[in-house]
Amino acid sequence: MKSTADEPVPFDPATPDDGFDVLDVCHRQTIFTLGKLAALVSALKSRGPDAEARALAADIVRFFSTTSRDHHEDEERHVFPKLLASGKPELVQAVQTLQQDHGWLEEDWLELSPHLEAVAAGQSWYDHDLLREGVDVFIALSHEHIALEESLIYPEARMRLRVSERGEMGREMSARRRARE
Ligand SMILES: [Fe+2]
Ligand SMILES: [Fe+2]
Repeated sequence: MKSTADEPVPFDPATPDDGFDVLDVCHRQTIFTLGKLAALVSALKSRGPDAEARALAADIVRFFSTTSRDHHEDEERHVFPKLLASGKPELVQAVQTLQQDHGWLEEDWLELSPHLEAVAAGQSWYDHDLLREGVDVFIALSHEHIALEESLIYPEARMRLRVSERGEMGREMSARRRARE
């Protein structure tokens, strides 16, 4: 599926047939939400935390604090282990890079999210310069990360998982989300 940043993709985690379909949809949603994040930072500069900015910030916080963290766990549980066990140095190295990225993305998010939560709550103490710099880094790393997963890691993992395993993967992912709700 081609990446687009101009429209949201409907997502129904209750009906996944194949875990990779859920992962692919989440990448489209991530790219879309990164676009919203960039737009929010620009809007804050020009208009401040008006009602639209507050609602946007709330959506963004919800996505990266829940959906995105679930997505990283999905990959750590279902995608990466097969490739770490593949014995292929290129794949092992790529997965290690992606695991390190997950750590850095989480660190970046822990730094950004209090400021975005402040915007969502209509508070004015957030640091716009920190947001500007941190969001640029977060967006760049996220795009690079998704590109490596889609160009190499997902295709290699898909080949190594049977249809039944991919169905089981989708069911586990869905069950984990339901358990949290
Ligand atoms: Fe990832
Ligand atoms: Fe991913």
